Amino acid sequence: MPQIAVIILAAGEGTRMKSDIPKVLHPVAGYPLIAYPLNLCRQLHLKSVILVIGKKNEAVRKAVIGMGAKGIRFAIQHPPLGTAHAVQMGLKALAKFDGDLLILCGDMPLLKRSTLENLIWAHREKRAVLTFVTSVLQNPFGYGRILRTSRGEVCGIVEEKDADDNQRKISEINTGVYLVNSAFLREKLAQIENKNVKKEYYLTDLVSLAFHEQKPMTTVLTDDPSEGLGVNTQKDLTGVNELVNKERIGALMGRGVRFSSFENVIVDAGVSVGTGTSIDAPVSLTGKTAIGKNCRIEPGVIIRDSVIGNDVTIKASSYIEGGIVESNAKIGPFAHLRSGAHIGPKAKVGNFVEVKKSRIGEGSKVNHLSYIGDARIGKAVNVGAGTITCNYDGFNKFQTVLEDGVFVGSDTQFVAPVCIGKGAVIGAGSTITKNVKPKSLALTRAPQVEIKNWASRRNKKK
Ligand code: UD1
Ligand code: CA
Repeated sequence: MPQIAVIILAAGEGTRMKSDIPKVLHPVAGYPLIAYPLNLCRQLHLKSVILVIGKKNEAVRKAVIGMGAKGIRFAIQHPPLGTAHAVQMGLKALAKFDGDLLILCGDMPLLKRSTLENLIWAHREKRAVLTFVTSVLQNPFGYGRILRTSRGEVCGIVEEKDADDNQRKISEINTGVYLVNSAFLREKLAQIENKNVKKEYYLTDLVSLAFHEQKPMTTVLTDDPSEGLGVNTQKDLTGVNELVNKERIGALMGRGVRFSSFENVIVDAGVSVGTGTSIDAPVSLTGKTAIGKNCRIEPGVIIRDSVIGNDVTIKASSYIEGGIVESNAKIGPFAHLRSGAHIGPKAKVGNFVEVKKSRIGEGSKVNHLSYIGDARIGKAVNVGAGTITCNYDGFNKFQTVLEDGVFVGSDTQFVAPVCIGKGAVIGAGSTITKNVKPKSLALTRAPQVEIKNWASRRNKKK
């Protein structure tokens, strides 16, 4: 099979986004827009990929390198004079290449692999010099419209701003995905002019040039019209995110996950959920998150970059970021698990409890109003209401260890570093500063004073 090289266009200024962040770094389902075409290239084993970026797009280069995408080369287009000019800049990196070139845009995340496969297939079958992908949209506003002859042959593309009223009524649009013979492309790019409303060099002019020379040219239609959607504005971004999100929810439903609603539930592309789990709204599951089977996620829960086992209940309004929760645990309502929180099987973390960088062992309970930071809590430990690990002295962090079976009375402070031995008991209201031996009782408590009839004497004074 002849080789296919890829040029991905991402040097546009993205002015319509009205954002300081480069357009292709805006997220769809938790991944930046640019990750989508790169992912398609990987799936199709296309290894020669040139990404055209603008002078101000160093952040894009960094992000792409950070994604671990291998073998991507970068070409700079400055200033951005249009899509044809961008391709010209990309071609500089492919001086000796004479195969077919796949051109993708950095701003269309819904394009499917199957459509690209159709494109490659049609291009080869028709021995075309140019094949490109079109969609039929209910609202084609803003897109280049496909012009056809009375015999249905494609003969040109006209941009929204250059179209007349009749052309604007055409609902078949250019998605911006082309497969083109590189020799033809090189020859024609030199002929493209910028005589249009935007004074840009339009890649779309290739189509009329190929038509006038009677070159074999064809189009493929996307299976799903949404595949052609480009992200140019914040509104487009939200629209695309909503579509992807609904698709994700639908796919998970197909695998036996129950959602109370399609609305107000965010499920990023990096999230997996097991069969039998039910998810209420509003809920946000983002980043790289794995949720097991038969869990229950109540309203107001936010989970980011975390691993949740099977049969876990996460009650309303809990926030989990960078945590691990093992099977049959119960979290919340109103719990906050921060990075490095590792909650063991059957453990309970109740309301207004914050846990950071701490391990809570099997069956242990921290049920009410506590802060557990830098702690190692064994199995079957009971941590009473209002317990605080004083882990920070203003300079360094220190560890608190509660061994298996410890019972902590309410309103206790552990001034770390401190270790409580197996099965020890801490009396309520204590400030524990020294290690406690296994099975001991430790308490620090001012003795209680009682003065009989004191209150009635006080009342008489008034
Ligand atoms: C483009 C097409 C239009 C099509 C639409 C599909 C042209 C002239 N128009 O319009 O027919 O319907 O995409 O979404 O091609 N870019 C550069 N350098 C530039 C200009 C753009 O690299 O100088 C990049 C952008 O970063 C973007 C892509 O090319 O990824 C498309 O540019 P954009 O400005 O979004 O074009 P549209 O107006 O959407
Ligand atoms: Ca666009």
